[in-house]
Formats: sequence, C-alpha cells, structure tokens
Amino acid sequence: MKGSDRLRRLASYAFVAALVVAAVSCNEAHPNSTLVPHSDLGREIDFLWNRLLLLGTIVFILVEGALIYVVFRYRRRENQGTPPQTHGSTTLEIAWTLIPAVILVFIAVPTVRTIFITQAQAAPGSLSIEVTGHQWWWEFRYPEYGVTTANEIYLPVGRTVNFRLRSADVIHSFWTPQLGGKRDVVTNRTNYIWYTPDTSISSNVWNGFCAEYCGASHANMRFRVFTVSQQQFESWVAGQKMPAKYGAVAPVSSSGGPTPPPVQGAAVTTPPAAPLGAAQSSVAAASASAGQAGYIFPREKIPEYAVPHSPIPPDLKFTAGLTGNAARGKQVFSSSACIGCHSITGNPAAMGTTGPNLTHVGSRSTIAAGRFPNAAAYLALWIKNARKMKPEVIMPTLGLDEYDPVLKAKVTAAGGGLTDQQIADIVAYLTALK
Ligand code: CUA
Repeated sequence: MKGSDRLRRLASYAFVAALVVAAVSCNEAHPNSTLVPHSDLGREIDFLWNRLLLLGTIVFILVEGALIYVVFRYRRRENQGTPPQTHGSTTLEIAWTLIPAVILVFIAVPTVRTIFITQAQAAPGSLSIEVTGHQWWWEFRYPEYGVTTANEIYLPVGRTVNFRLRSADVIHSFWTPQLGGKRDVVTNRTNYIWYTPDTSISSNVWNGFCAEYCGASHANMRFRVFTVSQQQFESWVAGQKMPAKYGAVAPVSSSGGPTPPPVQGAAVTTPPAAPLGAAQSSVAAASASAGQAGYIFPREKIPEYAVPHSPIPPDLKFTAGLTGNAARGKQVFSSSACIGCHSITGNPAAMGTTGPNLTHVGSRSTIAAGRFPNAAAYLALWIKNARKMKPEVIMPTLGLDEYDPVLKAKVTAAGGGLTDQQIADIVAYLTALK
C-alpha cells in the first residue's frame, strides 16, 4: 500500500512538471520557437512534427502501459514456484512485426510528401532573393529590383519568396525559425528554400540565424526579417534602389556644394548603460530630420526580442561629447581603408565587395550582423575596434593607438589609424545614409 502511495505521489509530481514544461514551451512569448509557424512551409513541417508527436505519444503510452501492467500483474509473489516456461509464439512474432510496419507507413507517407513539397521549385512569380553567407554576415540581393543589402530582409506578406543560397567561404545554414527553414548554405553548390509569409503577420520582425557552426563568430551571424505590406515593400524597394541618400551627387567641398543634412542626431556619446538609451533615440531623431527615401520599419515598433543586447567590451572607450560632421565623414571614409571592403552606390570611391554594402546602412536596425543596435555610440566603437566587438571579424582595427590582435601591434597614424573625431565624422556620414 505504502509503495503504491509513493508511486501515485511521484506520478502526480511528474504530471505537474510535464504540464509546466508544456505550458512554458507553447508560450507565444518565445519568438524563436519553430512550433509557431507563420508560413506555408512552416506549417508543412509543423504538420509532420504534430503527426510524429501524436503517433509517438500513442506508441509510448501503449508500450509503457503494457509494460507497467505486466510488471505489476505478473510480479513475483510469496511462496510462488517457478512459472511455466514458454518459447516462441508465431502469432506474437507476426503481430510485433506488422504493427511497427503499419506505424512506419503512417510516418513515411506524410514525410515523403512533405519532402517533395518543400524540395519542389518555388512557384513562378516568386520574389527572388540571393543569399550569400559570409564569415560572419549575410549578403542579400534582390535581382529583380537591383537592391543589395546586408543582414536585413524585407518581405511582402502573401508573396512566395525564393531564397537562392550560396556561401562565400564555409558552410552556413539559413534559418528563420518562425517562417520556415532551415537549409544549408554551401560553397560550390546552390541550395534553395522558399516560403510564403502569412498575410496575418504584416508589420512584424523575425529573428534569423546561422544554424551551422562556421567559426568563432557563428553565434554572431544573425539577421532580421521584416514582413511588411505590399505597399510598404514597394516603398522600401524604391528607397533602397536609389544611390546613397547623402552626398551622392558630387563630393562636398569645403567652399560650397550641397548643404549637409542636420547631423546633430549622429553625435557620438559614450555607449549608454542600457543598449536602448539616448543613442538609439538620437538616431531616430536623425532619421526623422533627414527625411526618408523609402519605407523603413519604425525603430520604436521593433519588438524587444529583435533588439540586440550584446555587452560592450569594458576596455573599449570613446571620447564623450564629440559631434560628427557628415561631409567631413564622407571625405575621411572615401580616403581610408573603409573603401577597400565596402560599397556605397553613389560614392564612386567606395566599391569594395568584401564587407557589407553600406549604401543604405543608416536604414538598418543593427550592425555587425545583428550583434549591436545601429546607433551612433555602437557604430563608433565598431569602427574604432571591430575585433574587440566581434571575435575574429575580418574588419581591421581602425582606431588610432588601438591594439589589433591580428597585426599584434597598435594602429599608428601612418597605418591609417583614425582619431575619435574622424570616427565620429564617419559615423555621422554612415548614419545619414538612409
Ligand atoms: Cu555562419 Cu554559423
């Protein structure tokens, strides 16, 4: 009696624990859960998962039930002799061969069906996006529109998007948990994945990840997906197609030329204690004052889970209170190491292809492939010493007198080292590139 009491209590504990786990894992507050699909592809996979979970649960309950029944019903009793011995039962042998075979049919048929659906070519008329995985950032091209961006994609809801996946170096994996995925991004081979974002998820932000270990900053290889309405998408495309919004026509000379837009918003301060402090709002102010060429997802509407909270290296400092000048910043940018790796359409000096295209970098919500918010304070530290901000990043250390772990030396003025004022100017320039 005592034993069965304890067993009953244990069973009730286990039941409560299972309920808690189930409740926590089904919570919508888990934005990166694959169990809440928001696309056709996501639902195909979800259907398979639910089917397998159901069948697995039924088999588990039947098998464990039978096991527990037999253990208790035929347990050894006092004064009991040796039970009758049996060997072999054709009926049983056939039964336990056939039952798993039938179960496997119920698993295999929908699995093969889902494989065929998800591996099929995307429907004609799909939005094509060329994805290139780099150590450690994502390059996105919209060939239909001539738009190149990095680490952020805008998708119109209701239209199938076809991703063409390639790698510039090692194996990565493209994954947006709630929209469907994941698929490997491999050198020398083009993979595809497609899905149609549900129309119900217009005006939303989704986290994307690299899901294949690809080196020191694998965890810092993230991206954001913005699902927007068709009109917002067209407006965004129109803006991104244009050359850089700031200073695209002619280099600004000190004696005249176009008046630079107000850049007080790009003033560089030391990073705020909380990542969403003054720096963030000052950039929002700058974007409002500069006027937007195309739709940009409003910063204040970006949900908390899509805002990075990576810590800043404690030993990386920046002069407080510097105000950057975008015109000067453009000149510094165009004559420094930056142009060796970055392109800015409209700035003929900047045609590098190693790093992200910066034509509209000011319109992006994050820098460093989702590792930091795209705010002046972070951008300044990033330019000053990117290798401290993100392990093993290719971007060289640019801050004067900063130690570069690859060169194993401090950056000198002769080696292209930039002062904090010069960096503040570049930040003002980049921030103006909406
Ligand atoms: Cu790219 Cu992991």
